[in-house]
Amino acid sequence: MNNILILGANGQIARQAIDMFLKETDAQLALYLRRSSRLENVDSSRAQVIEGDVMDMEKLKEAMIGKDVVYANLAGDLEQYAKNIVEAMSATGVKRLIFISSMGIYDEVPGEKYGSILDPYRKSAQIIEASDLEYTILRPAWFTNSDEIDYVTTQKGEPFKGSVVSRKSVADLIVKLAKSPELEVRRSLGINKPE
Ligand SMILES: NC(=O)c1ccc[n+]([C@@H]2O[C@H](COP(=O)([O-])OP(=O)(O)OC[C@H]3O[C@@H](n4cnc5c(N)ncnc54)[C@H](OP(=O)(O)O)[C@@H]3O)[C@@H](O)[C@H]2O)c1
Repeated sequence: MNNILILGANGQIARQAIDMFLKETDAQLALYLRRSSRLENVDSSRAQVIEGDVMDMEKLKEAMIGKDVVYANLAGDLEQYAKNIVEAMSATGVKRLIFISSMGIYDEVPGEKYGSILDPYRKSAQIIEASDLEYTILRPAWFTNSDEIDYVTTQKGEPFKGSVVSRKSVADLIVKLAKSPELEVRRSLGINKPE
């Protein structure tokens, strides 16, 4: 697992994960984002910057060619984005997907009902789960900027534990998943700081 395509590469979690990929792995990164001038000082021996929108199917498919892993760090019209990603991955034969979602999509957080605000997250998860991709969906708790790696995960069907998680912890799990093709495949994981 060496070639990783990161969609939404200027996102907050993506930027932490990119730092970690560069420091802790020898992966080659393709950084896909709108307005690519925002990513400065990228080491071109490790990372290729691709200016693109996830709504641009041709560009998305082209970016996927030869990749081992797609890591999607998106916000917005996640239902449409998930459809596009599944279609582009199927067309190019890329199987492994790491997709950042949110806690609460299965009403799995004890005492919380998040309602329609999570609909894009729910619908995108349904699309991915119905695909034949080797996906791992991550459902993080509320992000913090704590400089710590401290987390536990829960499986779909289990109650969510906790309420927060550091961005650095989410990045750590993303890097582990991207390095391990068999880890948590076709799973949807809650991630939180132990309380
Ligand atoms: N905040 C929390 O506590 C929390 C908790 C759980 C889950 N989450 C969710 O976790 C996900 C990742 O979080 P984050 O903080 O890293 O998000 P973020 O900083 O908002 O990053 C999302 C990225 O998606 C990109 N994007 C949106 N539409 C795109 C398109 N059509 N084509 C290409 N890129 C597109 C945005 O690009 P532009 O910069 O070009 O707009 C942005 O960089 C989000 O969905 C977030 O809602 C958040």
